[in-house]
Amino acid sequence: MNTRTLGTTGPTVSALGLGLMGMSDLYGAADEAESIATIHAALDAGITLLDTGDFYGMGHNELLLRDALRGRNRDNALISVKFGALRDADGGWNGVDVRPAAIKNFLAYTLRRLGTDHVDIYRPARLSPDVPVEDVVGALAELVKAGHIRHIGLSEVSAETLRRAHAVHPITDLQIEYSLISRNPETDILPTARELGVGITAYGVLSRGLISGHWTTRRETSDADFRSHLPRFSGDNLDRNLALVDALRAIAEPRGVTVAQIAIAWVLARGENIVPLIGARRRDRLTEALGAAAITLTEADLAAIEAAIPAGAAAGTRYDEAQMAHLDSERA
Ligand SMILES: NC(=O)c1ccc[n+]([C@@H]2O[C@H](COP(=O)([O-])OP(=O)(O)OC[C@H]3O[C@@H](n4cnc5c(N)ncnc54)[C@H](OP(=O)(O)O)[C@@H]3O)[C@@H](O)[C@H]2O)c1
Repeated sequence: MNTRTLGTTGPTVSALGLGLMGMSDLYGAADEAESIATIHAALDAGITLLDTGDFYGMGHNELLLRDALRGRNRDNALISVKFGALRDADGGWNGVDVRPAAIKNFLAYTLRRLGTDHVDIYRPARLSPDVPVEDVVGALAELVKAGHIRHIGLSEVSAETLRRAHAVHPITDLQIEYSLISRNPETDILPTARELGVGITAYGVLSRGLISGHWTTRRETSDADFRSHLPRFSGDNLDRNLALVDALRAIAEPRGVTVAQIAIAWVLARGENIVPLIGARRRDRLTEALGAAAITLTEADLAAIEAAIPAGAAAGTRYDEAQMAHLDSERA
């Protein structure tokens, strides 16, 4: 597996990272043994970046990762953890807490659940309007100094917020949704990250499965699968988005690759500072995704892909209206 360096101050990681979210939450039921086998297969294939969040399954995702790393060399994995989202006992969402005292508390629980003495990259999942980003990064910088975290990341923030944060302490990477059908970061966020020397860990590179080539109108989602509530997965939007996938398939198949592989390869081709996070929760999906790392897209390939799915072609927003309103990254 090739490697990429996250920003000018960050660690060198595998060119593809593995995101563990769907193994505990948001995409309906997952199989624990298969999840652990998938993490092992990823490590064996050379993936070193593992992304989790303390709120994914209310601690379940971190405990799963601890179990997967048992008997393995912890130092071969870079653990990226998101914090700040508040949950309730029914799995509901209760806003965000990124006050400095709360951050220390979140981290203490995370370290205990993970069974480790440090987190490699620690980041707020979302910001809250009542805590300036300078205070959040200041609190995280203290945790770096104390040795509890190695690097500071951010998630879904605007170019301006990234700049303010980076002035307090170097930011290793910004985690943001970026794919053939989510190209908003290209306007300001990606150029600013490049200028500042901040890496990008791209999530939703398959738009949560929508542009994986495996999604169909027949796929049934339970209420626990948050994709059933996403605008891009419903009604006419779904038909229009799947038509884009068909156009991508017409480019992938003659090249002997799959839709998922070409979609991931496109993100990889967008810059050496970008590391796609793969959301596979089964070994077969992981194997398919890993195939993307071996694809070299020519200028002609890239032009064909972008003609098939022009920027802005997606039908529907990437989150529902209420969640879009919380995204610092979507502010003008
Ligand atoms: N910072 C943030 O706000 C944020 C938000 C979301 C996610 N993330 C991170 O990003 C990671 C990636 O998650 P994502 O949902 O955005 O990823 P994604 O790659 O866009 O979607 C992953 C889903 O696509 C489907 N899929 C179909 N074929 C696949 C293949 N070959 N390889 C992988 N997945 C395939 C799977 O769903 P089925 O298993 O149902 O088929 C899988 O769960 C998460 O685990 C999390 O760590 C961060």
